[in-house]
Amino acid sequence: MLPRLFPFTLPPKIETDNLIIQALTIEHLEEYHGLCREESTMKLYGLKPHQKIEDTQNTLDVLDQWFRANTAIRWGIFSKNDLQEKNSLVGDIGYWQFDVLRNRGELGAKISLRFKSRGWGYEACSAVIDFGFKELGLQGVDANISLANKASMALVKKLGFQRIGIRPQLSYSTAEESWQDMLFLSLNQRDWQYHE
Ligand SMILES: CC(C)(COP(=O)(O)OP(=O)(O)OC[C@H]1O[C@@H](n2cnc3c(N)ncnc32)[C@H](O)[C@@H]1OP(=O)(O)O)[C@@H](O)C(=O)NCCC(=O)NCCS
Repeated sequence: MLPRLFPFTLPPKIETDNLIIQALTIEHLEEYHGLCREESTMKLYGLKPHQKIEDTQNTLDVLDQWFRANTAIRWGIFSKNDLQEKNSLVGDIGYWQFDVLRNRGELGAKISLRFKSRGWGYEACSAVIDFGFKELGLQGVDANISLANKASMALVKKLGFQRIGIRPQLSYSTAEESWQDMLFLSLNQRDWQYHE
């Protein structure tokens, strides 16, 4: 069962071969603002790029409120081994909109332009899915992806997600200023065991 209250006060650190996935805090404000200013990255996520640092500060505040309300959990993804880029913020990742009755969480992630196509999106998603099933006790992980987002579709397919169907006008994109049809995909705990 998804815990009614997270048994930790900050999102716990998760390490992979190349990444450290840890709490995003006010310390990372400048770097996180850099990520949130990337127009193409944010557009695929359905959001307008941040203009002012206050926009990013506001996002961090909201993420913190959602975490404390046990409705969402968000980490920063940091590089570990790359000497030039060590400890740089690579992206963010997390679950939002936990469905407590069905024991499911919705996965979302962004990888900054300069770190794309290194396999790090896949590495981070694998680790956070594993954490979701093993530490949060999730039964399933869901994804809603805009039909234009080919990279994300390929990524979740590689992770073993199954296509369920189109959800018409599910999500409002502030970047497009319109309601978007989304492809709904999901991954169940049982299938993840076989995928591993
Ligand atoms: C989707 C995203 C997270 C992928 O991150 P990434 O680190 O570049 O992805 P990886 O290098 O780990 O690639 C993993 C797989 O994703 C797929 N993929 C990644 N980029 C792709 C692209 N541009 N076109 C098609 N497939 C792509 C491939 O299947 C790839 O596996 P392969 O290299 O074995 O073929 C990144 O492009 C991103 O941040 N996009 C904008 C935000 C977003 O769309 N978030 C998801 C919304 S739910």
